[in-house]
Amino acid sequence: MRPIVLIGPMGSGKSTLGKRVAKQMAIPFVDTDKEFSKRYGAITTFFKLHGEEGFRDHESEILKEVLQKAKGGSVIATGGGIILRPANRELLHGHLVIFLDTTVEQVNSRLNTSKRPLLQSDPGAWSRIYQERLPLYQQVAKETLVTAGKPISATVDELIKIVERWG
Ligand code: S3P
Repeated sequence: MRPIVLIGPMGSGKSTLGKRVAKQMAIPFVDTDKEFSKRYGAITTFFKLHGEEGFRDHESEILKEVLQKAKGGSVIATGGGIILRPANRELLHGHLVIFLDTTVEQVNSRLNTSKRPLLQSDPGAWSRIYQERLPLYQQVAKETLVTAGKPISATVDELIKIVERWG
């Protein structure tokens, strides 16, 4: 079975939905951000000490590893900036990558910005970052699913249907 990779902006539901889909399909769930924190500590602290590029280096190394380990099938939730590095986009090429799209209204109602270093000091940052990255999400994704304004269970069902369609 192929790995299922979820990409999309901060607050689009990658981790929440990924966990639910993996549970329902009885396959492992991996979260590149969680994997990062296990190895290198809290992301916010790491950004402060080593900057974004230091974070991106480790994020790439983690993506490579989880894709290698996921050969038997698993759901992989990624950090919102995973599509920034060309090497990561190359790694994702050929995989079932699903872009979880959302709106600023939805994100404002549910996102914990204290854990997102890129949003901490600038409330307008989400929309700006979203617009900058949108072409990259679209370029890398095989499928797009809008998660805003729907109950989680409905989105989980839609995701599973997409995965079944890809076989
Ligand atoms: C980031 C998103 C975060 C995390 C880091 C950077 C980004 O993950 O990887 O704070 O650049 O969009 P989530 O998308 O899970 O919030």
